Amino acid sequence: MTVGHGTPRAEIGVIGGSGLYTLADDVVEVRVETPYGPPSDALFVGEVAGRRVAFLPRHGRGHSLPPHRINYRANLWALHSLGVRQVLGPCAVGGLRPQFGPGTLLVPDQFVDRTSGRVQTFYDGLPLPDGTVPGVVHVSAADPYCPAGRRASLDAAAGAAWDPVDGGTLVVIEGPRFSTRAESRWYADNGWSVVGMTGHPEAVLARELGLCYTSIALVTDLDAGVESGEGVTHAEVLEVFARNVERLRTVLFKAVELLPAVRACPCGHALDGLTTGLPGVPGD
Ligand code: ADE
Repeated sequence: MTVGHGTPRAEIGVIGGSGLYTLADDVVEVRVETPYGPPSDALFVGEVAGRRVAFLPRHGRGHSLPPHRINYRANLWALHSLGVRQVLGPCAVGGLRPQFGPGTLLVPDQFVDRTSGRVQTFYDGLPLPDGTVPGVVHVSAADPYCPAGRRASLDAAAGAAWDPVDGGTLVVIEGPRFSTRAESRWYADNGWSVVGMTGHPEAVLARELGLCYTSIALVTDLDAGVESGEGVTHAEVLEVFARNVERLRTVLFKAVELLPAVRACPCGHALDGLTTGLPGVPGD
C-alpha cells in the first residue's frame, strides 16, 4: 500500500534492528515517499497493546544498509507523516565498561556524536522538491531523549525481569568499522558507557520534528578497549542480538503499552516559537 486516502495511521514508531522487522501479526505494509527520498524500507503498521504502531527496519529488510547509508531524515519524516509522535529506537551497542557485558540493556540519557558527514538536520536552507524552503531552526539537544519514553522503557525492562541500566552516554561512531582499542579506551576514559553506530542523527532529527525519541541500547559485545581477545566481530554482534531478540520484543511491547496516551513531556514543544517552514511541522 502506498500513502493516500485510507493509509493506516500510527501514534508510536519503532525503528528497529535485525530480527525486529515485524512487531505484531496483522501488519499492513505501507510504502511512504518523502521529500528526502525513500526510507530504509516499507513501514509495517499494526496494533500492539491497543496502540497503533509503525515499525521501520532501520537497515532495511535483509540488513542491506550500513549505518552511514541509512536515510535518517526519510525514516523520521515517514514516521511523522503517518501520525507518529513517539519513537522507540532499539539498537545494538558495544559496552565500554566491564560491567556492561553482552546482554546488558541500557537506556541512555546522553549521546556524543563521533559521526562525520551525516546529514543531521531538516533545516539546512535547501528547498524541498515542492519549493518550500525550511527556516533556520536551532533546537535544544541538551537532553536528547524523551523522559516519558525513558521511564516507560525502564519500567518495561524491569517488568520483564531485565534489570536495565538507567542512564549513561551512548557514543555514536561513523562506522562501519568497529573502534580501535585506543579509540575505545578514549571513549571509556571520558566516562562514556556504550558505543554504537546509529543513535545519531536519529534522536536529533526526531527532536526537529517535535517527536519523542527514546534510545534502548542492547549490549552485544564488550568493545575493543575493554576486552582482551580479538576485538569485536559482526558475527558476534548478530549472534548476541538474535539471542536477545525475543526479550527485547517483550520489552518493546510493554514499553509501547506504558507510553503515555497524551504527551506531557517537553519534546512536543521543541519547536515552540520557531517558524519551521516545513509542511505539517510542528504537528499536533
Ligand atoms: N554495535 C554493536 N557493537 C558495537 C561496537 N562494539 N561498536 C560500535 N557499534 C556496535
